[in-house]
Amino acid sequence: MFYPEEIVEEVRSRNNILDVISGYVKMQKRGSSYFGLCPFHNEKSPSFSVSPDKQMYYCFGCGAGGNVITFVMEYENYSFKEALEYLADRVGMELPKGEESKEARAQAELRVSLLEINKLAANYFYYQLKQPQGRQGYEYLTGRKLTDDTIRRFGLGFANKTSDDLYRYLKSKGYPDQLLAQTGLVTIEERGSHDKFWNRVMFPIMDVNNRVIGFGGRVMGDGTPKYLNSPETRLFDKSRNLYGLNYARTSREKYMLVCEGYMDVIALHQAGFTNGVASLGTAFTSQHGVILKRYTDQVILTYDSDSAGVKAALRAIPILKEAGISCKVLNMKPYKDPDEFIKNMGAQAFRERIEKARNSFLFEIDVLKQDFDFEDPEQKTGFYNRVAQKLLSFSDALERDTYTQAVSREYYINYQDLKQLVNRMGLRVSPETERAEGGEGRTPFVARERKREKEDGVKRSQRLLLTWLIEDPALFDKIEGIISPEDFKEELYHQVAQMVFDGHRAGDLNPAGILNRFINDEAQYKEVAGLFNASLRESLNQEEQKKAFAETVKKVKKNSLDEASRAASDIEQLQKIIQAQKELKDLNI
Ligand code: CTP
Ligand code: MN
Repeated sequence: MFYPEEIVEEVRSRNNILDVISGYVKMQKRGSSYFGLCPFHNEKSPSFSVSPDKQMYYCFGCGAGGNVITFVMEYENYSFKEALEYLADRVGMELPKGEESKEARAQAELRVSLLEINKLAANYFYYQLKQPQGRQGYEYLTGRKLTDDTIRRFGLGFANKTSDDLYRYLKSKGYPDQLLAQTGLVTIEERGSHDKFWNRVMFPIMDVNNRVIGFGGRVMGDGTPKYLNSPETRLFDKSRNLYGLNYARTSREKYMLVCEGYMDVIALHQAGFTNGVASLGTAFTSQHGVILKRYTDQVILTYDSDSAGVKAALRAIPILKEAGISCKVLNMKPYKDPDEFIKNMGAQAFRERIEKARNSFLFEIDVLKQDFDFEDPEQKTGFYNRVAQKLLSFSDALERDTYTQAVSREYYINYQDLKQLVNRMGLRVSPETERAEGGEGRTPFVARERKREKEDGVKRSQRLLLTWLIEDPALFDKIEGIISPEDFKEELYHQVAQMVFDGHRAGDLNPAGILNRFINDEAQYKEVAGLFNASLRESLNQEEQKKAFAETVKKVKKNSLDEASRAASDIEQLQKIIQAQKELKDLNI
């Protein structure tokens, strides 16, 4: 832990989780909890809950859960320390200095140092651009029609021809090699260290909080590789960052433009489309989708119009859809990308293309159509079948019908015929046929699952019992003298049980506080958050609850006694256990 536990706890308790989360997600009261659309996965109906009583959040959809500190960490992509400082600041609390553990401080300091070095480097590159030695870079950028304003706004710069220029500069600032090596900006070698980027124009990559986390560098001409990018570092995670999002997030448009490259984003912004972002040559990931969904639910894809761009769009569409983002595809032909289009046609023409952007489903059909030769009746039928198959992917009947109409109109297919084809196909993939088709492959899976479930039975009963006690502390009376923390044989549950029992005894059962102690281990953290947030009350009626509770208590105790008997070393001990096992059979809870 970076700060003493009491401090962390104070920060946590002074920041009401509902207030904090309401700043990010629209929440609505339902029962004793609040519900909203989960910011960590994509959904149409709210399964993300905040409990003001427990001071915790939990998503019944994706299992994300935690307290106010982890929420800020997850949402803002902050380290623990950054989240804590942010929250302390939010309530005007001063954090003590210098009381952190050595290792923790080192971790936090590393991040801070890397950010600091990146910022220095960005400033250095920017400075070089305006110097005589940077002239070629500056001319390259202005040659590509970038204004001084744009260059400043995006912090564009120049890496000199000398191959250890930045290295020497950073050394002069006193940074040790071992630290510099972790920035991805330099390669440290005995024969002599050198810069990763030289003789290139530089694009600093900023996160949503305007901090420089990496760089891209372009050759000024036709050399290869065209772009070099920072490697993944402690700061830079390509699958989580979108270039330009720091500006696009505050754009007033309802939609975002997603394109491929640095220059595209910059050209878009310069032309007034400040809602442009790019996934920077890497494929669009589901994490990108989740992040975008925080800011918008409409995307217009402006990928390159070559075949690679079309492929990239086809891959991105289902990801965006999965993210709950509706999506259109912009046609840039005859130009290759937004940068070229705008340079040739201007902003107004681009705006017109935005208005004409193709619905993503119809775009997919357009691409599909290219594979079929309509002169050949067999291929034509094949195309219709594929279209019908795709239409079946709409589970909502009305939506399916709307698209059936649109497709029939666009492709001159008789509406009734198409509808019939879709329906017939729908009948064919009934559960019956599906089972017949997938049956073989599935059996081993089911068997595997059963085995796993059996093994997990004991673990599950421990988990259930814990969840029960947390949800309804009155139940502690019922297990008095029967169950103690020692009966929770799963190591993690044992730890949690100890804290829960202690808390109950002290009259201060505090789930969010307990959860904090697991903050350094993501897997444990998730599991404990799940414990605290599951609700058993809703799924069972009164009578079932009583029965299930009694059974669970017995199961936990039985397992505990069985283990004790296996470990028993003398007769007397064993007799005691056997006696307890007997009593357990007749126990009435
Ligand atoms: N890219 C990369 N490495 C390469 C080529 C491309 O990282 N060797 C990434 C860059 O982020 C680039 C994006 O993929 O911006 C799109 O590539 P491309 O379309 O080839 O480049 P443009 O963005 O059009 O760049 P420019 O206009 O400068 O040619
Ligand atoms: Mn380009």
